[in-house]
Amino acid sequence: MPCRVLSHGRIASLAPGRPGYGLIEDGAIAIEAGRIAWLGPTAELPPALAAWPRTDVGGRLVTPALIDCHTHLVFAGNRAREFELRLEGASYAEIAAAGGGIRSTVAQTRAASEAALLAAALPRLDALLAEGVGTLEIKSGYGLDQATELAMLRVARRLAELRPVRIKTTFLGAHAVPPEFEGEPDGYLDRVCLPSLKAAAASGLVDAVDGFCETIAFQPAQIRRVFEAAAALGLPVKLHAEQLSNLGGAALAAEFKALSADHLEYLDEPGVEAMAAASTVAVLLPGAFYSLRERQAPPVELLRRHGVPMALATDCNPGSSPLGSLLLALNLGCTLFRLTPLEALAGATREAARALGLADELGTLEPGKLADLAVWDVQAPAELAYRIGGNPLQRRIFGGIG
Ligand code: NIG
Ligand code: FE
Repeated sequence: MPCRVLSHGRIASLAPGRPGYGLIEDGAIAIEAGRIAWLGPTAELPPALAAWPRTDVGGRLVTPALIDCHTHLVFAGNRAREFELRLEGASYAEIAAAGGGIRSTVAQTRAASEAALLAAALPRLDALLAEGVGTLEIKSGYGLDQATELAMLRVARRLAELRPVRIKTTFLGAHAVPPEFEGEPDGYLDRVCLPSLKAAAASGLVDAVDGFCETIAFQPAQIRRVFEAAAALGLPVKLHAEQLSNLGGAALAAEFKALSADHLEYLDEPGVEAMAAASTVAVLLPGAFYSLRERQAPPVELLRRHGVPMALATDCNPGSSPLGSLLLALNLGCTLFRLTPLEALAGATREAARALGLADELGTLEPGKLADLAVWDVQAPAELAYRIGGNPLQRRIFGGIG
């Protein structure tokens, strides 16, 4: 069994039993077989562990590896032209209504080979790993036909064979109505989306099921059909909800005990209460808010008051959030949504793990959890959210290795 000890670190454990960042000054972490065996002050390291191979991290900050719990990392092409159109005054919804937006990426993704999708996704993945990400979620949703939806999920799974990273895959067939089903969202669900979900699940490619509940995408009644299909397959759900308007998507997600409801700019108090009662995580996506120059921020104060856990993610996608940096998402979450740096860091570790159903394994530094760690060349944990650009990662440890 490979064993090792990291010593003399400033450990931000994020453990719920400890206040704030869960700091352990001059701390040590003992790792055995990829899991945390012990952590505490270096001076109190048990004698049996003191003989294990040791890495002195020289007073640097040690946190759980970061977790990006909402990405659309696998896609072809880009939408820089829509960026220009928005700067000329067009809105995201207008571009989508004119056949651009998600549909434009769907056309490019359908035309790409699996090898090309993989080659395009790898540098995006590498950028996240270079910032200390150990786990990320990747959605389908730019295929909207069975072959391409499955191809996207296979590519997402393949990434975890090519790099030391944990990947959770999410089926997002209900992302947009494809052009061949214009005006027939239920026909698309019956003939393509739901059969594709069954096929993808039968191939073991699906960890969770997502949808886009919005006037420009699917109505709650249609999302309910997707969630019922997911429940029949025993798969957890999550939802893009209340991003551009309030259709009650978060409450619908909570009714199905969703892992998370994401975006949430237009969430109201009944929606917050429903999420609190269902322990559904609020995943905040400041990259989309920033890129679309939204005016209404998610109701962070209400979420706090009702004790809804808040995660933060990149939403990395070619349209609404071409953001490839989770550290920048932390900064945007603080600057634009007024999260505290502690909430931001917890949002990309502990709460992100909850949003992926991985809270028992990841997201905090506690004995028994997987040893996915990030070592940073910073003193105070708030520095991780404070910088705009730059990357203070010194070492990334994945499953005890690195
Ligand atoms: O999370 N909101 C819907 N889906 C994506 C955007 C996808 C796109 O514009 O390509 C999102 O923002
Ligand atoms: Fe998204």
